[in-house]
Amino acid sequence: MNRISTTQLTEAKRLLELGELVAIPTETVYGLAANAFSDEAIQKIYDLKNRPATNPLIVHIADATGLDLVAKNIPEIAYQLAREFWPGPLTLVLNKQDHISSKVTAEKNTVGVRVPDHPLTQNLLRSLDFPLVAPSANRSNHISPTHPDHVKISFGDRAPFILDGGRTSKGIESTIIGFNADNPVIYRHGSISQEQIESFLNRKIDSNTDESELLAPGMMKKHYAPKTPLILTDDINKEITLNEHLKIGLLLPYPINDMENKYSSRVLSTFGDLEEIMSNLYDHLYQLEQMDLDLIIAQKVENKGIGIAINDKLTRASH
Ligand code: TXA
Ligand code: MG
Repeated sequence: MNRISTTQLTEAKRLLELGELVAIPTETVYGLAANAFSDEAIQKIYDLKNRPATNPLIVHIADATGLDLVAKNIPEIAYQLAREFWPGPLTLVLNKQDHISSKVTAEKNTVGVRVPDHPLTQNLLRSLDFPLVAPSANRSNHISPTHPDHVKISFGDRAPFILDGGRTSKGIESTIIGFNADNPVIYRHGSISQEQIESFLNRKIDSNTDESELLAPGMMKKHYAPKTPLILTDDINKEITLNEHLKIGLLLPYPINDMENKYSSRVLSTFGDLEEIMSNLYDHLYQLEQMDLDLIIAQKVENKGIGIAINDKLTRASH
């Protein structure tokens, strides 16, 4: 840990103990963190983000030993998933312990919990005697931040203190899994693919997009959107022709027919690698948003593995 990080960590700890908000780095996206045991601190998250009071928050803990303090009646399969994927981008939705505030869970009796995989935030969590609730550190409905600059863009002069951990490695949010009579169900596609989870469990699992409208309000349409209108397409040539009168920008998964040199564009990966596309996705959306375009045209990726989550995020970014 270098001296700058140590100073920043001390400041983050001080602010959080005072009931203030701090933007924290994780391996997925930056979180807007508050003391999970303080309703007053939690309210500041809802106010700053302009987040509907019906949308619950994820509790972040330092390691799996803290799980039983947050949740109860935990299915055995949840422990198995935690052992395999924590620390890491997996959120488990479980029955909440009685002392977890309804302000965290938006009046539900379940709670989302995860162990983030980032050295600074790990260090911070270990130094505190309370867990942290943290939604993504962006205005409600805006793009999730993968770099401290994105937090500043999204909140402007209302941005909180940012614990600077550089750019995040995964680039999209955690995968959320809930349980239906002890059977795991995907509530939100994220940076661990459904395929990866199924291959670990050695069986197929459901992804419940219908029910997740109710269970995970964050799954509602039109989320993660840039200010600039965005069209998602399989046929980029056609969309360019249709929109030639506009100032367009392209978001390409890989270079396509030299288009990146003819139009304002961002190329997510030189060779179409899905992990690389995922890690650049939100950063490139922020960049295109800053370019004062009329329209962003984005090309879909192959709907396989982590590509399912990438297409899902792009669909939610489209208007
Ligand atoms: O990667 C992540 O998960 C990031 C980092 C900061 O950890 N956090 C994040 O938080 O994406 P947020 O608030 O932007 O998204 C959390 C999602 C929301 O869709 C919310 O509805 C859902 O989790 N959620 C939280 N608690 C829940 C619960 N008890 N039942 C169902 N859904 C829940
Ligand atoms: Mg969010």
